[in-house]
Amino acid sequence: MTLRTSLFLAGACAALAAGASGAQDKATLDKGGQAASAKAEKTLQAMQTEEKTILTHGIMPLKLTPDAPEPPAVAIPGAGYIPGIPRLGVPALFETDASLGVSYVFGVRKDGATALPSGLAQAATWNPALIEEGGRMIGSETRAKGFNVLLAGGVNLMRDPRNGRNFEYLGEDPLLAGTLAGHAIRGIQSNHIISTIKHFALNGQETGRKVVDSKISAANAHESDLLAFKIGIEIGDPGSVMCAYNKVNGHSACDNDWLLNKVLKQDWGYKGFVMSDWGAVPSLGAALNGLDQQSGEQLDKEVFFADKLAAAAKGDPAYAKRLDDMNRRILWAIYDNGLDANPAKPGGAIDFKTHGDIAEQVARQGIVLLRNERDVLPLAASARRIAVIGGYANSGVLSGAGSSQVQAEGGPAVYIPAGNGDENSPFIAESYHSSVPLKALREAAPQAEIHYRNGRYIAEAVAQAKKSDVAIVFATQWTSEGFDVPDMSLPNGQDDLIAAVAAVNPNTIVVLETGGPVMMPWLGSTAAVIEAWYPGARGAEAIAAVLTGKVNPSGKLPITFPAGKEQLPRAEVDGLDSTEPSFFGMPDMKGQPLVADYDIEGANVGYRWNAVKGQKALFPFGYGLSYTRFAASGLKTDGTRASARMTNTGKREGATVAQLYLVSRGGKPVQRLLGFQRVELTAGQSKPVAMTIDQRLLADWQDGNWTVVPGDYGFALGEDAEHLGPVMTVRLKGKTWQD
Ligand code: BGC
Repeated sequence: MTLRTSLFLAGACAALAAGASGAQDKATLDKGGQAASAKAEKTLQAMQTEEKTILTHGIMPLKLTPDAPEPPAVAIPGAGYIPGIPRLGVPALFETDASLGVSYVFGVRKDGATALPSGLAQAATWNPALIEEGGRMIGSETRAKGFNVLLAGGVNLMRDPRNGRNFEYLGEDPLLAGTLAGHAIRGIQSNHIISTIKHFALNGQETGRKVVDSKISAANAHESDLLAFKIGIEIGDPGSVMCAYNKVNGHSACDNDWLLNKVLKQDWGYKGFVMSDWGAVPSLGAALNGLDQQSGEQLDKEVFFADKLAAAAKGDPAYAKRLDDMNRRILWAIYDNGLDANPAKPGGAIDFKTHGDIAEQVARQGIVLLRNERDVLPLAASARRIAVIGGYANSGVLSGAGSSQVQAEGGPAVYIPAGNGDENSPFIAESYHSSVPLKALREAAPQAEIHYRNGRYIAEAVAQAKKSDVAIVFATQWTSEGFDVPDMSLPNGQDDLIAAVAAVNPNTIVVLETGGPVMMPWLGSTAAVIEAWYPGARGAEAIAAVLTGKVNPSGKLPITFPAGKEQLPRAEVDGLDSTEPSFFGMPDMKGQPLVADYDIEGANVGYRWNAVKGQKALFPFGYGLSYTRFAASGLKTDGTRASARMTNTGKREGATVAQLYLVSRGGKPVQRLLGFQRVELTAGQSKPVAMTIDQRLLADWQDGNWTVVPGDYGFALGEDAEHLGPVMTVRLKGKTWQD
């Protein structure tokens, strides 16, 4: 695959009329989509037979190989292009990745976009309103570049901390992840563009993603990953769902009658369309099993959803019926989001300053303070000499690789080729945004003398640390779409570097820029640790603001940091030791049977697994320190609503998250997050919080019904999943309702 990038740039940069944003709120549209349904039906009736497969398939508008045909000039370089039907006023679909902003497409798009922090950083804010604002922002950039579909909305639960794509997703809890995905989608779609939710479903690992079979019972799936999708769909109403590469219970997720027809469309009544992941369509029959659109069709063995589909529809009423339904659904999504009436045009103005402020706000709220011995943070004004070590902190902040990679104009500040040096390498390169920690720290702490050492020679870093009042080590864990990390260690000898620096400087602070949880063998010898994730376009400024105390950290972990791999449901995962990183999932593993047995933990993902097993995490779900202290009190609940009071008992303003957990059912330990609310409090201030409890979180799913079993339910507020307040036991009457 050779990318002839320059050929596409003309299209990408075509300057058309400005003012592409300025969307009206989606709430003012006809939600529930009755008018859209009627309009879709009318267009369908007006379609000629040969027009019926126009919307059902499309290309990746890139010249993927030297002998491949040029993409049509009208297509915008990005992830997908589906021609419209001008005769009927049906717009073409111009699709781009993804959840962190308009993607860079391995360097094909050099026009620049604003990168939000990673999905985990977003989730660590526990702030739906802010995530919605972030969605609105990236949606407006999508629109300003002429795209009308943003392939955002990744909501797969973190079932393995080594998954290379955890950074794109929103953590391990269905309520938190689903709620935030829903709000992100709502924000995105407020721009009259379609958002997806993805990857449906149970796409829990990257290595072998095209061959792995996720095995799980219907009940376990409904109480975990499917619940996250359902909540996301209820809140965000995405026009599209993207099915996944993996199999689910023996059938490709994009060719899966149970998942697509039964669960999504029949039981949930989903009205939008299912688009395939790129290169995930096994056969024409996928149409009968619920797939509505074949995306990136050059990547599949065949273009199934064009002539083949038309021929099948001609001879077989089942295909004919499906073809109408496929069109109805795609048209519904187009009309429901007003794509036809509000066409997106390339060349729209983007206010990068304001958008950067939003990205920075997300990073500020998403950074998690993990450790702060002797209150070493915020940095005291007396810290005159500071050593900044490692992590390319003199150049930028790390980002996650793959299709979701976003870059500002001019591309990455640091670009480290990865992979086999083949055509896929640019896709998975390790790249850093040009938001520079060293510079940001110098600006935030002008009184200090700050020296940088790259950390390659431990002795050199140690010598600098010895001479300094404080040593700040920036440690990175690069992860990417396409393959998982083999273990949870910090690579490149960074553990040794941190240990050596901490041994000579008691004020050693570690700033982690990681895709997910990492092991910290040096933890006990450090003074402070912050998890900054992949912090996005303004990550360095946010890190500096937290370190210097301009911002009081309020992020809470949306995932469990395990104490060791033996705590995981699957300590050893097949494929993890097949090392050579390659996009599109480990070609050398194709055809091998690979099973992810998700029934081991079932719906008890992450902290729920630890609760059942009686395990203590290195850092638990929900955990995060502050420069002030908080107390939660006065829990009252009847099982449907809960109220409590949050108080700032410390000396400075800050924010925390009230977290309500189910801790027992019928006397048996079980743990589920039932509600959460972020609260900002000045010193000494106290505020009431109120939450509605989603009854599905108290219930069991079976055969399409949710059942709350009658009995005693224990509720507790928690600082996190392991530090819980007094348990309030409530006797609940039983009830059953349909999904
Ligand atoms: C990814 C999707 C992405 C698509 C288009 C696939 O490889 O799994 O998340 O939207 O490519 O770029």
